[in-house]
Amino acid sequence: MKEKVKHIKEQIQSFSASSKKEIEEFRLKFISKKGDITNLFTELKNVPPEEKKEYGQLLNELKNFAKEKFQTLLEKTKKDEAGGNDEFPDLTLPPSADGIGSTHPITATRNKIVSIFEKIGFNISEGPEIEDDWHNFSALNFPPNHPAREMQDTFFIEKDPDITLRTHTSSVQVRVMESQKPPIRTLSPGRVFRNEAISARAHCVFHQVEGLYVDENVSFVDLKQTIYHFVKEMFGKNTKVRFRPSFFPFTEPSAEVDISCNICGGDGCNICKHSGWVEIGGAGMVDPNVLENCKIDPDKFTGFAFGMGVERITMLKYQISDLRLFTENDLRFLEQFRHVGF
Ligand code: DAH
Repeated sequence: MKEKVKHIKEQIQSFSASSKKEIEEFRLKFISKKGDITNLFTELKNVPPEEKKEYGQLLNELKNFAKEKFQTLLEKTKKDEAGGNDEFPDLTLPPSADGIGSTHPITATRNKIVSIFEKIGFNISEGPEIEDDWHNFSALNFPPNHPAREMQDTFFIEKDPDITLRTHTSSVQVRVMESQKPPIRTLSPGRVFRNEAISARAHCVFHQVEGLYVDENVSFVDLKQTIYHFVKEMFGKNTKVRFRPSFFPFTEPSAEVDISCNICGGDGCNICKHSGWVEIGGAGMVDPNVLENCKIDPDKFTGFAFGMGVERITMLKYQISDLRLFTENDLRFLEQFRHVGF
């Protein structure tokens, strides 16, 4: 019997396993109820009584030895699976393609807006995010004490003379008109800043697109047709548009532009506050004072302008109800826009 114990111990010692299947073979051969060690225990009854104690001890030791080996084998394969083996990784392998990103929904919407207007002859213009008072307010016909200039709306970088973060992309209109002669047909996408508390509906940093068309005989009809065209391209041909009279210092007359709510189809829901309409931006005929401020003759030229919020359009297009999702970088949100790929 001693010979048998010795032989099994040697077998256990030299056993090596590289797969779960081999470990299972080890368990069946040595540890299971039908295994070699259990068989030896049954043979114990044939041993003379005075030697039973010694053999019993020997077999117990053998059993524990097999169990320990079994545990070691298990742990080793676990480590190997987790890549924790001691082998150095192959650095020449190509990278995995899993982590490729997707276009941010704001970028996708901006690009889509730009492409719609580019096709009807608008060029793209940009201006600085840090603006002086003239381009952000004064040239746009804001009176000196207009509430939009107040601290609660505007981030000031310097006071007297005022340097601010631009509160709208209308500032780019002024820069374009100062440096170019009509005909002007330009679209100015960009980031704007307002001193607002962050909530589901408001943010202190957001994006706008400004449009400007200045030429001889530009009329409100041109403005309406341009907006109609944009809305149908962006939201689909069944979307309705309405203009509501409004006021902006830089346009006269001015309007706010609403579209039929594409979430409830105009029947009324929470997003449109049960009115069936949602606002997408402001528009109007460029105020003659603004043209004059930019050295363009208001007796010869007229123009229209419009401004839209990119976040707002994105929220309506993709039915997103919280503005904060755009800046939280949550992959579960962002990956839903893989298909947009624009
Ligand atoms: N600048 C305005 C805002 O930020 C939007 C706007 C309204 C732009 C009317 C325009 C316009 O060009 O004509 O709220």
